Amino acid sequence: MDDLKAKYLSAIADAGDESTLEDLRLQAVGKKGEVSLKMRELGKMTPEERQTAGPALNALKDEINSALAAKKAALGDAALDARLRAEWLDVTLPARGTARQGTIHPVSQVWEECTAIFADMGFAVAEGPQVETDWYNFDALNIPGHHPARAEMDTFYMHRATGDNRPPHVLRTHTSPVQIRSMQEQGAPIRIIAPGRVYRADFDQTHTPMFHQVEGLALDKDLSMANLKWVLEEFFTAYFGTKVKTRFRASHFPFTEPSAEVDIQCSWENGTVKVGEGDGWLEVLGSGMVHPHVLRAGGVDPDKWQGFAFGMGIDRIAMLKYGIPDLRAFFDSDLRWLRHYGFSALQVPTIRGGV
Ligand code: PHE
Repeated sequence: MDDLKAKYLSAIADAGDESTLEDLRLQAVGKKGEVSLKMRELGKMTPEERQTAGPALNALKDEINSALAAKKAALGDAALDARLRAEWLDVTLPARGTARQGTIHPVSQVWEECTAIFADMGFAVAEGPQVETDWYNFDALNIPGHHPARAEMDTFYMHRATGDNRPPHVLRTHTSPVQIRSMQEQGAPIRIIAPGRVYRADFDQTHTPMFHQVEGLALDKDLSMANLKWVLEEFFTAYFGTKVKTRFRASHFPFTEPSAEVDIQCSWENGTVKVGEGDGWLEVLGSGMVHPHVLRAGGVDPDKWQGFAFGMGIDRIAMLKYGIPDLRAFFDSDLRWLRHYGFSALQVPTIRGGV
């Protein structure tokens, strides 16, 4: 038995592949294997002999079987290692040969530019869901159920199961609900921007059912319209890379009081717009001082805190800066358009590098 054990354990240890291992298994513990034959001889032994030989043979069989299993696992690991080494691929290498590089979409680029410029003025980025409750999208923003602004917004309503009487969810019609969520999460003072997708049932040359806004919210003890004006002018100058005059027109939003729509200076020559020159004006955002009802809905005390908010169209300012004539082309996924207007992935907007 000791000879058998020594013979098979060393043969198993030396086996270089799985088929050698399988041959060894058959030779040792297969039906006609050496250990199995020995076990058959037990019948011819005296009961006393059997009492020692039986357990010893069983132990030998177990030992060989577990040596076989361990070697099999080791060979499997080695095979996997070899395969991993042979198939090794550095996915961080740049593309070679005929592979064409993708581009960053102008919306993504402008989104990052806005983030970089506002971050430099101390604004953090906040987020909210695109599927909103109507409380966050409307009520909390001082737009009650009967208010005409609900109809004007061309809202997409989500389906509810019949018999479910709760108000339906909506696709957010603006980024303003993020004002409420941020106030609830962080309280005041606060300084955030919220870039993101918004939805309205509207489709023509200057409207797409999905588009992008960047919301701004700043609350503190003594913020005023003057701070709003400074922040926006600072933003436009950095964004367009030239001093841009702004014009504040009195307007109305339920969630700000007073409210202003903001135009930027531009010229129109031969059908092309140039920002920062001429005597034309282009509307780019809505803004105002946050309404006390809105502060309260966000859990902020209007007797202690005040501030401004604004909402700007990202697609609109992208078209202006990069001379893109048709809004709908943004969302056509036309490769020729994407290659023409897209940005290199390495052109990361930074304040120091210039946006
Ligand atoms: N939410 C408004 C819109 O979508 C823009 C806005 C935001 C106006 C914040 C005032 C303050 O038109």
